[in-house]
Amino acid sequence: MIYILDRTRALVTSASRRLRLAPSLLSADFAELGAAVAAAEAGGADALHLDVMDGHFVPNISFGPALVRAVRSRTKLPLDVHLMIQKPAQYVEAFAAAGGSTLVFHVEADGSPRELIPKIRALGVEVGLAVNPETPLEAAARWLGDLDELLVMSVHPGFSGQSFLTEALPKLRQARAALDTMGSNAELSIDGGVTAETGAEAAAAGASFFVCGNSVFTGGRVESNLAMLRDAVVAGAKRAVR
Ligand code: DX5
Ligand code: ZN
Repeated sequence: MIYILDRTRALVTSASRRLRLAPSLLSADFAELGAAVAAAEAGGADALHLDVMDGHFVPNISFGPALVRAVRSRTKLPLDVHLMIQKPAQYVEAFAAAGGSTLVFHVEADGSPRELIPKIRALGVEVGLAVNPETPLEAAARWLGDLDELLVMSVHPGFSGQSFLTEALPKLRQARAALDTMGSNAELSIDGGVTAETGAEAAAAGASFFVCGNSVFTGGRVESNLAMLRDAVVAGAKRAVR
């Protein structure tokens, strides 16, 4: 596979697969959220990742559609809305109306992807499916061809700032092989504990979309953090094609 850099500094492959960075606002200062959005955009973020938590599916509560709407009013970047909620079917209309670009729900949540995937698509937004660390990829395999994004969790969902679980790497390789085999252009996302080091490993394993919370918003400047992450994932992706 040939990798080249396009004009926006994003990496593309011969199959037009770009590497995209999505800062996770869960790690930003909520009292300065507008500034965080602006900093991420100025730093070259390709999308923003918004972690919705209901206190049932995960042991934490974050925010709902009102905050997604507020962020939407501040940026044109795609909003990748990660629904860590037990009953996604009840809320997809609200998150689509709030301005979400992609709604990512969990295969472990209530309801069947058979109904939820077309329901989300009918709202005019993209569809993502997430798998927890302990869930085998097989649980999502039958839906892969219907997705715009497959999100592999590399931490137990609920909190930012956790360490990357390396068992995500073979799962990424398995997912990359499956997506390539079926000719899917779906994003292969990695979420949790992504740093320059682990992001590079994830890129080498086939990830195309990198959710980055603490590594963007904690310590250093957002712009330089994003530049460092981008260099790292580009280098990692090159390792994959040797
Ligand atoms: C965890 C969330 C992640 C988290 C990432 O449940 O889904 O998106 O915010 O934060 P970091 O990159 O700090 O692990
Ligand atoms: Zn997330």
